Amino acid sequence: MSKTIGIITGSLRKGSFSGSIADYIKNNAPAGYEIKTIDISGLPLYNQDYDEVNPKEYVTFRDEVKALDAVLFITPEHNRSIPAALKNALDIGSRPYGQSVWNGKPGAIISQSPGGIGGFGANHHLRQVLAFLNVLTLAQPEAYIGAYHTLIDENGALSNEDTQKFIDGFLSAFADWVEKVS
Ligand code: FNR
Repeated sequence: MSKTIGIITGSLRKGSFSGSIADYIKNNAPAGYEIKTIDISGLPLYNQDYDEVNPKEYVTFRDEVKALDAVLFITPEHNRSIPAALKNALDIGSRPYGQSVWNGKPGAIISQSPGGIGGFGANHHLRQVLAFLNVLTLAQPEAYIGAYHTLIDENGALSNEDTQKFIDGFLSAFADWVEKVS
């Protein structure tokens, strides 16, 4: 039976570079894996009062994440950290206390930027949060994809062959990691 990797992107933007990487991965999933996109754009801003009332968007999101075999985060960098929408999703999944949907889930991170350091700051801030949430995050290879705007075609699709090969290798390592820690 195939396993499911959920992709959560840290960008809500139409034509997002993170979404472009997600599209490439959806079309090039590792053998034996299905890819499911988890949409975080409609999640109300986390408020601890909601632990009592559970908004329906939170329930759906938590159920979707719980059902995954692994989670892959693809994110831009906002002011050397992760976008607020992504932190919001991480916080929502972590509550109510003791019922975190992240606990023990295999994970991996790809960061991207038009800049030269490929979202290193976001990647490592995310790594810090995931360590606390007990997401079993792939350590190597790391994925910081710089100058992303130069790697796409006129439709925004990832077209650079070296980057495609790099992502293929990254996914293969992630699949091995998921098998190892599951
Ligand atoms: C950015 N961007 C950015 N880039 C970067 O390399 N380091 C940074 O600290 C920031 N900071 C930042 C803050 C804010 C508020 C915005 C809107 C943008 C640029 C941004 O991360 C870049 O355009 C991403 O590649 C866009 O990714 P998506 O949204 O297309 O997936």
